[in-house]
Amino acid sequence: MWESLCTLGNGYLGIRGHPEESWDAGPSLVGTYVAGVYAPDDHGIPELVNLPNIFATNLVLNGSPMRLANGNVTEYVRQLDMRHGVLRRSLVFTHHGHTTWVRFERFVCLDAPHLAGQRVVVVPLNWSGELEFTFTIDGAVSNRSGRHIRVIEARQIASHIVMLLTHTLGSEIRVGQIFRAQPWTPRKRPISERVETDNGRAELRYRCHLEPDECACFDRVLATYTSRDPIDTSVERASVRSLRGPRAPTYATLLAAHTAAWRREWRRCDIEIDGPEQDQRAVRFAVFHLIQSCSRQDASVSIGAKGLSGEAYRGHVFWDTEIFMLPFFIFTNPAAARRLLEYRHRTLAGARRKAREAGYRGAMFAWESADTGDETCPRFVPDPRTGEPVRVLCGDLEQHISADIVYGADHYLRHHADRTFKQGIFAEIAIETARFWASRVTWNPSANRYSIPHVIGPDEFHEDVGDSTFTNYMAAWNLRTGAAAARELLAGRSGHSRMWGQWLRIKESEPDQWEAIADGLTPPVAGNGPLIEQHKGFFALQQVPPEQLSARISRTPEKQRMRRLQAAQVIKQADVLMLFMLWPQAFSRAQKLANWRYYEPRTTHDSSLSAGVHSIVASDLAHTGRAYHYFRFSAFMDLEDRLGNTCDGLHLAAMGVTWQSVVRGFLQMRAAENGLMFHPRLPKSWKEIRLAVRHRRMVYRVVARPDLLKVTEEQMRRAGLNKGKAR
Ligand code: BGC
Repeated sequence: MWESLCTLGNGYLGIRGHPEESWDAGPSLVGTYVAGVYAPDDHGIPELVNLPNIFATNLVLNGSPMRLANGNVTEYVRQLDMRHGVLRRSLVFTHHGHTTWVRFERFVCLDAPHLAGQRVVVVPLNWSGELEFTFTIDGAVSNRSGRHIRVIEARQIASHIVMLLTHTLGSEIRVGQIFRAQPWTPRKRPISERVETDNGRAELRYRCHLEPDECACFDRVLATYTSRDPIDTSVERASVRSLRGPRAPTYATLLAAHTAAWRREWRRCDIEIDGPEQDQRAVRFAVFHLIQSCSRQDASVSIGAKGLSGEAYRGHVFWDTEIFMLPFFIFTNPAAARRLLEYRHRTLAGARRKAREAGYRGAMFAWESADTGDETCPRFVPDPRTGEPVRVLCGDLEQHISADIVYGADHYLRHHADRTFKQGIFAEIAIETARFWASRVTWNPSANRYSIPHVIGPDEFHEDVGDSTFTNYMAAWNLRTGAAAARELLAGRSGHSRMWGQWLRIKESEPDQWEAIADGLTPPVAGNGPLIEQHKGFFALQQVPPEQLSARISRTPEKQRMRRLQAAQVIKQADVLMLFMLWPQAFSRAQKLANWRYYEPRTTHDSSLSAGVHSIVASDLAHTGRAYHYFRFSAFMDLEDRLGNTCDGLHLAAMGVTWQSVVRGFLQMRAAENGLMFHPRLPKSWKEIRLAVRHRRMVYRVVARPDLLKVTEEQMRRAGLNKGKAR
């Protein structure tokens, strides 16, 4: 779990917080990932590749290797310094009466995506003798599912510089990893160097003599390049170029640039809470990992459900990004939000293929997406209890994702004027998905309306259901949005809109047809009351206490559990309540309250996405105590390993929705005609909260206390203008 929590990254490169030295003191997953570097697993499903470990380090202290399990550790501090983006470990280790103090420090540079730095300081406390120190790039790594790389060669480039070249199997991506080391002691002791380039590793070994209390310091700057990168030369040359020459960074200069970049990020994204320190830390932890997971320049990648912190879900991208994480970027870093949406646009070819193969028109986005946009959701997964294969239907039936992506793009446009995006990327996505839904619906003559049979809604406990309210609602909105986008292009006089209109071959009749379908796709509302049925037939299912069937508690084999769940009113995560989070102004308080009372006690929260949504809806209902309860569930999802699977990677969607539970929930931020509105409902234990959000070229700085709300606005980039104007 700690290795996931201590992941460092910059959206290009992500490295888990595994120990630097050979570790025999407990389970560990050494993980190094580059966004977009996938290779097919045994079933042909693309998986984020675990690449050679660039932080591998080993020490031999006066003849005995440092293995924590073999000696006595009297002090051990692991510190994730979120302010500066640095991971540190320091320890005092005694073996055969020799006591040594060691400090490891490392970072993945936020300012320069290919670069990372590492410093190790060693001090013998009560012995004098030989220190043997090794810096390695270790190619002997593999994914949990198997190995996806082959080492091409390890090579010495110059004194203190070695490189390891690998390539991915099946996807043939070339990867170059290189480092330049700088060993030194304050007393300028002679340090001998030996190079090892055998056995799939590139290694530099240093030896020096040390006296008690004398320190030795080993720095290295590392670079990673792949053939996916937009470079004008080979991976090898790009790698070498980044570490040689007069302008090549040292450990200290790189660290300075890195910490300056973090300072800028925190100035933009920090949320300050005057309340329990744990809450403050948990919110910053979420913000820290969201920033670290998003590429700062590459629009051909998005953020997987686990970011770059682990191998669960194989690095695939879900609706987690557009619905749960994207709002954080919309309000703190609009350019990053746009890039995340561009990724979806780039995967449209895969979405069109998926629609065509299933017999539909337009584009049906992948439930699980990787590099091409083709569906990558496995058809079978092993039952965690019996090992038996269990069929997964999400890739075929969890189709609401197509509308969720349009929602995310529209959400971005509601807060940022971006005409080229609106008439290009957005229009194409909205129109192609509208075409999909128009071909997806079926006419139900007995009800005199359109239906969408055979889907999975957000609640994955109920598979192959008809007329999921969430899906129908989102599909209807998607059809209307597509119609509006198509009309705008048809009416547009600019060359730009004419070009997109022609490219998309919009027929004059299409917008009317889509709107008619949307009008006929009324979500089923039981009776005349405010209660909304999750999907057709849900209210007729058995009433079962949710604890009996929760994945976290139940010991029943998966197939059997799924059969029982299918017949029960027990749900995995917010489903109908999702609508209230996404469309707070479209439902009455009576509707929200009735459905909250109905669905909350039936939810197991087996998905990490659920708690944050409940927090937001509870805030809306002014149930601040419940909102705080769910906020904490979401905020501590990984810090307290609430679902027991943090070791497989972080829950980035929970982090995104934790941020939303503060901003959309406790602050009740809403879009208004000329700006943003806030109606804070702070938890009892919070005295004040301060943050900044971006909206239409303006930065709003908000200070909220139970008895005061102060919002000042200033123009983006030209900070200072209009400062002090209160709303
Ligand atoms: C949830 C989905 C989610 C996925 C990835 C599943 O357990 O039910 O809603 O998209 O995990 O986080």
